Amino acid sequence: MASSTNLISKGLCFHCGNPGHSIANCPSLLRGEGQSNAGLEALQRFVSHRKELRKKNGGKREKVNLKGPLFHLTKLKYWMKQNQNSEQGESKVYDPLVLAKQSDECNFVNHAYREFFSHVMNFVEKEFAARMIQESLEDGASTKDIANQFSPKPFRRKRLPQTHNKVFDETDQIDKTFHYNYSWQLALNKAVKDGIPANFSNKPAIRVYAYDKLFPRVRYLHHLVMDRNEISDNIRKKLLLPEPYNVESGQVRVCAIGDGPGYDHIALGIVSSFLYQSQCPKSLKNHLLKPKMIVTQAFDLFDKDWSPIMSSLNQSYRVALSKATMRDEDHEYNNLLVQNPTLNHCDIRLSLDNAKNKHLNDALPNMDIISFQYILHENSRTLLPNYEKQSHAMPYEKDYQNIDFIRGAMFDILQRARVGAFILCTDSNNFVWPILKKTATVFGWNFVGDFEKEESIALGPKSFVILERVKKRAEEDE
Ligand SMILES: C[S@@+](CC[C@H](N)C(=O)[O-])C[C@H]1O[C@@H](n2cnc3c(N)ncnc32)[C@H](O)[C@@H]1O
Repeated sequence: MASSTNLISKGLCFHCGNPGHSIANCPSLLRGEGQSNAGLEALQRFVSHRKELRKKNGGKREKVNLKGPLFHLTKLKYWMKQNQNSEQGESKVYDPLVLAKQSDECNFVNHAYREFFSHVMNFVEKEFAARMIQESLEDGASTKDIANQFSPKPFRRKRLPQTHNKVFDETDQIDKTFHYNYSWQLALNKAVKDGIPANFSNKPAIRVYAYDKLFPRVRYLHHLVMDRNEISDNIRKKLLLPEPYNVESGQVRVCAIGDGPGYDHIALGIVSSFLYQSQCPKSLKNHLLKPKMIVTQAFDLFDKDWSPIMSSLNQSYRVALSKATMRDEDHEYNNLLVQNPTLNHCDIRLSLDNAKNKHLNDALPNMDIISFQYILHENSRTLLPNYEKQSHAMPYEKDYQNIDFIRGAMFDILQRARVGAFILCTDSNNFVWPILKKTATVFGWNFVGDFEKEESIALGPKSFVILERVKKRAEEDE
């Protein structure tokens, strides 16, 4: 039998006894109907449970947390079940955000996906911190350094010895003892300002970077995909469970560029998991539903340096997802979501035809989603045509009289990705977006960015552009 706490946490209405709403907005009460037996029983259970708690607490009132960690998701599932069953006996898979929009229930669905995101990410962050601390200790870091580097930012030492107050670039001899706090901030700001990538080869420092940026960067991409705009809606369609299931339709292939740490794989995995969790497969005809599997190939300039960190992060994600999700059958399905991403070398400053970009060039034709988080602006010196002309002119310049296009691998990706592919870009600045959009338009991409959107995305990226390829070239229609 279910315990009283379980029954309470299910949030049954005290008037009609149904879940999914409180007595304050009970439809039966609004219709003027009397209290049902189920409603009365729910109320009595609640009152006697309260009494029991008060007795245990020596007669004092005790604050009871009626909301479980996934309260809104539970509510959402009941709501989805009602909607899934209401279609003349036909059960279907729905995107809860699209459904919510049709019935003005946006806020409650927003609560559900944000709650699910934080719930999973809290586990990921704890697991990952433990691993990073363990690995730092094994590499001989002092406990004092570890305490400083992995403590909350406001408690970290701000002032560093004079020798550490320097900014690193690719030509620097890496100082193995330099601290994260000060140098990293400067190095990254300088990289964006100069348009030249920062050096990500210092192991202790990139561990701290990976830990620090984990929550916000995964959140940016996740909230961007969960946003209500035409392109995000189409991305979620891709991530929604396939009906009927087969291996080909069950996969979403992701190419995460500049994603050494492995954040983008997790962000899309959480979206896929949420879309799966929010359905009620048992109420659906096809019980063989599975979440979409995210198959990620990551590429980075510092692939070798990031590789062990990406592997630790993915292990943390695997453990976290199994702790955080709810259904019995989830363990089997979680395995679909935590496929290890691969990590290969690429340099987006070079053409895709360059040998250094071989893996990326090979992967591109099959990609559904290509992500660029915080990488384009720190390469703007090469990607933007109005920076001083480089001596190593790109071969494609011969073919295009007007070179007022974005350069490097980004140009080739816009030109060669398949129709139906999506590109997701977020960054700390926005001066690359106009030329990116201009080039994209020529090659048949639609786009939405922060500039086009009326409202910003709460806790999402401030500066972004997402694109969907709808045809091969702009002239196709004409
Ligand atoms: C600022 S970090 C962003 C990392 C991660 N995407 C995030 O959002 O936190 C930039 C990443 O892009 C990589 N990167 C920089 N320039 C690159 C280039 N030209 N080609 C490939 N990767 C590059 C760096 O090694 C680093 O991992």
